[in-house]
Amino acid sequence: MDRDQLNVAVRDALAERAEPVSRLGYFCAPFRPAHGPLSDRVIKTYRGGRDPEVLSLLAERHDAYAACLRDAGVNLPETQFLVLEEIGFRRPVIVQQALPPETMLRDMLLASDLDRAIALLDQTAISIAAFWQAVADRPERIGYHPSIRNFAMGADGPIFFDTFPPLIGYSRAEMGKLLLRFSESALIRGIGPVLPERIRAIQDEWYSPAGTIVGLIGSAVRLRPEDEVALLAWGREFAETHVSGAMKDEVLAELDAPPRLPAIWTTTRRILGLEGKPNV
Ligand SMILES: Nc1ncnc2c1ncn2[C@@H]1O[C@H](COP(=O)(O)OP(=O)(O)O)[C@@H](O)[C@H]1O
Ligand SMILES: [Mg+2]
Repeated sequence: MDRDQLNVAVRDALAERAEPVSRLGYFCAPFRPAHGPLSDRVIKTYRGGRDPEVLSLLAERHDAYAACLRDAGVNLPETQFLVLEEIGFRRPVIVQQALPPETMLRDMLLASDLDRAIALLDQTAISIAAFWQAVADRPERIGYHPSIRNFAMGADGPIFFDTFPPLIGYSRAEMGKLLLRFSESALIRGIGPVLPERIRAIQDEWYSPAGTIVGLIGSAVRLRPEDEVALLAWGREFAETHVSGAMKDEVLAELDAPPRLPAIWTTTRRILGLEGKPNV
């Protein structure tokens, strides 16, 4: 399919939009067309606007970020970014190979016994640490949001599928603006201008290698609170054996500071309005 054909197919699919496959997203509610040329894809639409310069930079950065993830060894499904011309505004859209619902990591972790859950988490954490190692020498500001909800588990290991916003080349201030600009939540867009630092801080975990590992462990505990002791023990062992240097010390320090954990694990969730959900 060339670009024009893809545009037409996306418009057709949007015109008869099916129920979203998930409402768990912060920026989008992906849906999968019931039939037609894109029935093997999910379509993610993002808030449109009249800011063409923001959107064309976004398109460029999205391509750069997808390439960065792949170069770093991340298994990313086929993913295309386009900007649809609507009347008077433009809308960013991502078209991505649809992954089977039964491979969603979050659901697998909920359905597995503890040993299997820990094996899944271990594989995921290994892939996250490998990503950070692979991008360590790159000059750009690069982030990664490897939350449980952003992974599927394929036959060859973790598949990461959340490429939005593209966490490459944007400063902290610029990313803060994007978080506000593209939030689907009217509440966030409302409080953003009053509490810009709260919004900017959402991204900090994504730009902290240790933060993403601690975030994964924290999410696992929130998902399976009854297994907290075993999951924290696994997290410590993971840090001891698979992480080194300052990052290791940072992960262990965070895990050893239980009073701080709830705050770390819940602040962004609260801001995202996902408080009732067991996992981000
Ligand atoms: N390629 C895909 N195949 C199947 N489900 C998907 C796919 N991409 C996303 N989803 C579902 O939609 C949810 C939100 O998608 P995601 O890309 O993470 O958006 P957001 O940036 O809003 O978090 C995911 O947690 C997952 O449940
Ligand atoms: Mg996501």
